[in-house]
Amino acid sequence: MSTATATAATAATATPVTALRVALVGAGVIARTHARIAEAHDHLVLAAIIDPMLPAAQALAETSAHPEQPAVYASLAEALAADAFDLVVITTPSGSHAQLAEEALDAGCHVVIEKPVDIDLARARGLAARAEQSDRVVSVMTQRRFAPAVQAVSRAVRDGRFGAVTSGTATLAWWRDDAYYDSAAWRGTWASDGGGALMNQGIHTVDVLLSLMGRPVTVSGTAVTVAHDRLEVEDVAGAFIAFENGAVATLLASTAAFPENSTRVQVHGTRGSAYVQDGLLEYFHADDAHDGSPRGWARGGNQAASEVDAADLPGGEAPIPDLFDDHLRQYEDVIAAIREGREPAGSIGDAVQALAVIIAVYVSSALGHPVRVDDVLDGMYDCFDYKETRKI
Ligand SMILES: NC(=O)c1ccc[n+]([C@@H]2O[C@H](COP(=O)([O-])OP(=O)(O)OC[C@H]3O[C@@H](n4cnc5c(N)ncnc54)[C@H](O)[C@@H]3O)[C@@H](O)[C@H]2O)c1
Repeated sequence: MSTATATAATAATATPVTALRVALVGAGVIARTHARIAEAHDHLVLAAIIDPMLPAAQALAETSAHPEQPAVYASLAEALAADAFDLVVITTPSGSHAQLAEEALDAGCHVVIEKPVDIDLARARGLAARAEQSDRVVSVMTQRRFAPAVQAVSRAVRDGRFGAVTSGTATLAWWRDDAYYDSAAWRGTWASDGGGALMNQGIHTVDVLLSLMGRPVTVSGTAVTVAHDRLEVEDVAGAFIAFENGAVATLLASTAAFPENSTRVQVHGTRGSAYVQDGLLEYFHADDAHDGSPRGWARGGNQAASEVDAADLPGGEAPIPDLFDDHLRQYEDVIAAIREGREPAGSIGDAVQALAVIIAVYVSSALGHPVRVDDVLDGMYDCFDYKETRKI
């Protein structure tokens, strides 16, 4: 396996309990969620906001309720030269993630990176190797796997309650209109977004699928642009994935599914199955009671899930499918990882694996045959130009 897939980072050094000084890089849409978390969390202080669009950084800084507003800088280099930070949070266009993360690591900071880890696998591998040598925590946002429903299903898989996992499906059926793609110059471009429905929107569904199914081995994919005339990246991607344990899964990511905005992951095994729809546990069946009677039936979302088996949800609480809450759950893990000097649950190794599967879909689509994920991870296709989707 390549170094990029190694998930065990060098044991991070535990940091004592004082509030972590946060530098937020990027002041766009998702930065607002990170700023809210840094503002609300007792163990975080939003110390700086960095964006070459200074008015955007300034406007976000002015939303701070703290007496001392975060400082504003035009570049990470400028901020790092002027002040010291514990945690750098990167929320810039996807193609800039690895380079900015390396800059932050070089300055001795822990790093949170918005997904994807980067759009270029060679850069992502380089960052993973750099992170492995460092004693800093590096976490890539994979917040959907922190949702209570996904955690419950993940625990059931791990505990063998579904028997041998045989198959899964992951579907993201979203709609994004031209105005969305026009809302920032980097959106929907190979150069900065690195892909379309799969790389940008579908990556969370890929991550959840991989977290439940195990190590992917081969991918057969098709990526097309069907609903957006001016879009250079795909708006629909489909794939068939085979896993090391013999299980298979289908994957669909679409931003051409008007007017939908739903995601769904199903996992099936020889003794049980579960469906998670839009972050809610829609169905759960684990045929693992000692008397052989079916146990853990749920249908109909939130309420049914908690009625079925409270132990299936952390603290018996109902899942809340909200971006802020899932982000906050991942931050709790990052803060604990920094305090305890351990690897975070949203590891860079997992993020590189998800990126490799996405690139495998594009490569397979361009070549017209299945590709091995390890070949993608090991750089066999680093110089292959897959950045062309078929128009229909
Ligand atoms: N986890 C999630 O669910 C989620 C949701 C939305 C976006 N994202 C990811 O977050 C990233 C940003 O997405 P967005 O929708 O907020 O984009 P955006 O265009 O709204 O914001 C990006 C900001 O970064 C700034 N920027 C560009 N280069 C910079 C640099 N070198 N240093 C500092 N700032 C820089 C831009 O000026 C812009 O203000 C993307 O990688 C995207 O995939 C993740």
